[in-house]
Amino acid sequence: MSSIAPLDPPARLLMGPGPISAYPSVLRAMSSPLVGQYDPFMTDAMADTQRLYRQVWATENEQTFLVDGTSRAGIEAAITSLVRPGERVLVPVFGRFGHLLAEIAERALAEVHTIEVPWGQVVPASAIEEAIVRVRPTLLALVQGDTSTTMNQPLDEIGAICEKHGVLFYSDATASLGGNDFEADAWGLDAATAGLQKCLGGPSGSSPITLSDRAVEVIRSRGRVEAGIREEGDESASDFIRTNYFDLGMIIDYWGPRRLNHHTEATSMLYAAREAAAVLLNEGRDAVIARHRLAGDAMLAGVRGLGLGVFGDVAHKMNNVVAVEIPEGLAGDAARQAMLDDFGIEIGTSFGPLHGRVWRIGTMGYNARRDAVLTTLAALEHVLRRFGAKVPQGGGVEGALDVYGAAV
Ligand SMILES: Cc1ncc(COP(=O)(O)O)c(C=O)c1O
Repeated sequence: MSSIAPLDPPARLLMGPGPISAYPSVLRAMSSPLVGQYDPFMTDAMADTQRLYRQVWATENEQTFLVDGTSRAGIEAAITSLVRPGERVLVPVFGRFGHLLAEIAERALAEVHTIEVPWGQVVPASAIEEAIVRVRPTLLALVQGDTSTTMNQPLDEIGAICEKHGVLFYSDATASLGGNDFEADAWGLDAATAGLQKCLGGPSGSSPITLSDRAVEVIRSRGRVEAGIREEGDESASDFIRTNYFDLGMIIDYWGPRRLNHHTEATSMLYAAREAAAVLLNEGRDAVIARHRLAGDAMLAGVRGLGLGVFGDVAHKMNNVVAVEIPEGLAGDAARQAMLDDFGIEIGTSFGPLHGRVWRIGTMGYNARRDAVLTTLAALEHVLRRFGAKVPQGGGVEGALDVYGAAV
């Protein structure tokens, strides 16, 4: 007889750039009983989830649903379904995740064009329009919040530019949705995708997506239904979408009234996504964004109160993450490890040119909370001092409390 110990994860306060600690009610929803794929409870829960996410995205788009998989599943589904091999895609790059969009478009055999600005900046709308005129792409693929640099790319003017030039407009809002303004219809988005593990306060593994009628038209023009469930009139387009799992046409037919079998919807993730949206909408979309803004401002004031520098154009910083410059000569990775070992608090490392230069500290979803902000700053002050930095006593907590005090 062998006895295998049950899984016993340590208690952690996840204050990195995501994943973050999920809302308790999301975790409870995930342990709800499973039902069959076509149980009326399940199909009702799917329809209900679509209704809730229309409000989260601020859209009337009928085609608003979940792609099973992490956020990059949503990205891959959107790009691969919207772009035919050989078509041009324009990707403005201002951090790691712009490179990811370009990489995915390249694998979809698109002709990919990029424009880049240095990390820590956003891309001016005029530079995007100039590139659209020059490249004449089918699709503009633009990250909203890039956690690698903490920048929040303004999207509000881009939809009108895309419409003027007949370009489809897709945005990756994985890291920003729910904690920063996002107006799918008002900003003229044709497609947008996200993940649960950032401001929406769930685990990773489900990607909310919304598609405009114009995007659905493109997807439908590339329609194909699998043999075995194909019915009379289901013509297959010659340029059908070259992925089965991420074929948005087939996923739409599964979520829609035809209920055509595709994958088996990930039931526990559906429950999680539904509850994450319910938490946000019950508190109020604007109230949740304001809570993220306040927690972000408090964390920003706190790290500055500890005498630390902040990377990037702070005027364009996402509400939910800050890139904190590691003091010269301080052992950044060891200090981060001490935050975890001694306090159970995870803060983030960083990628590429910023690795070793900044830590990324997140305040999002369930953890966009005053106590989480203050606890993190108190622990950080202690760790900084132990690792040899000179820090003002109580400067972090005081800085954050001033912001919370001013907001009352
Ligand atoms: C902007 C952005 N896009 C895409 C991703 C990839 O998400 P996932 O790991 O859920 O696939 C991330 C993850 O941090 C992100 O921040």
